Amino acid sequence: MCTPYRNYYRQRTANQWRKIPAEQGDPSAIRPFLAGNWKMNLIPLAGVALAARIFDLCRDVKDVDMGFAPPFTGLSTLADYITPDFLRREYGIGRNVFLLAQDTFFESKGAFTGEISADMLAAIGVDRVIIGHSDRRANLGKYFGFSSSVARRLSKEFLTHSLKRLALREEPDQKVLATIEHLLEEQHSDVLAGLATFLEAELNERAGESDEAIQRKVQAALSNGLQVILCCGENREAHKMNETFKLLERQIRIGLEGVARPTMSEVIIAYEPIWAIGEGANPASLEQIATVHDFIRNLLMDLYGEQIASRVRILYGGNVKPDNIVSMMQLAGVDGALVGGASLNAADFAKIIRFGLPDA
Ligand code: 13P
Repeated sequence: MCTPYRNYYRQRTANQWRKIPAEQGDPSAIRPFLAGNWKMNLIPLAGVALAARIFDLCRDVKDVDMGFAPPFTGLSTLADYITPDFLRREYGIGRNVFLLAQDTFFESKGAFTGEISADMLAAIGVDRVIIGHSDRRANLGKYFGFSSSVARRLSKEFLTHSLKRLALREEPDQKVLATIEHLLEEQHSDVLAGLATFLEAELNERAGESDEAIQRKVQAALSNGLQVILCCGENREAHKMNETFKLLERQIRIGLEGVARPTMSEVIIAYEPIWAIGEGANPASLEQIATVHDFIRNLLMDLYGEQIASRVRILYGGNVKPDNIVSMMQLAGVDGALVGGASLNAADFAKIIRFGLPDA
């Protein structure tokens, strides 16, 4: 039973985004995609139990795609559970359920302890992979201790030792040697201390995956037949300084570099402003979401032309909840959502998937 505003299927024509009800089976219709990013939560069986409750509450939902991104440890168990045949038999759904990984590494195999390659994910039935999530782009530094180890390395003792070692190399880089010598001069010890403090603070804030690493992950995923959910988003500082567009443009241009036009059908973009993510934060305003999604769409048009850009799904993420999903989905440029906290609660995530439908 559809309420009048559940008319989210899109047909996009020249420069015009319209939400109109699609004919059944219309191949040009764009299906909304509601995905739950479970982050580092739930052991495998708890994940299956959660998914089962959600399917039960969404038996009548056939016209949106839904996705679940458990941690790596939960992928196989969930993959075994969500086979289309089983879902069709048990819940009357199936082909609209997608298994997502939260990350992948770009090399295919080798001495990369702890990493998981894209072909490993494909082999266990993963459909799509989230790449460049802000949890990974930013903030990793403070957990991995990059910052304090970099700061330590700026001590006089460490630099003196490094200078000796570098000088012994066959072809030492003269510029590096000169820089270290310069820093080591007695009168620069306060510069060293200042630099260490600055770098420590910077890395605490920002150290994480680079745009270039993300680009390589996108390539690895696509070449292994996985679809990509490329995340982008600005931090609070960039938001305040009005640098959102500049930052997003960089993230998207570099992230998609090398992705050929035909392959763009395998790419979904997720806009997740960092300041809007997580408990205690507020979602971006509808106006901000609409403006940024338009910006991203226009950028995709520049990169790939209108026909391709109009078919790329752009999701919003950042405190998506049952009480705001309807108004977000009513925005012409929003094709779905990437949901964190609320996706861990069956009733809440089911309501999000059911946006615009009466509760189950
Ligand atoms: P929240 O929905 O908890 O704000 O998280 C958003 C997110 O990071 C999804 O990837």
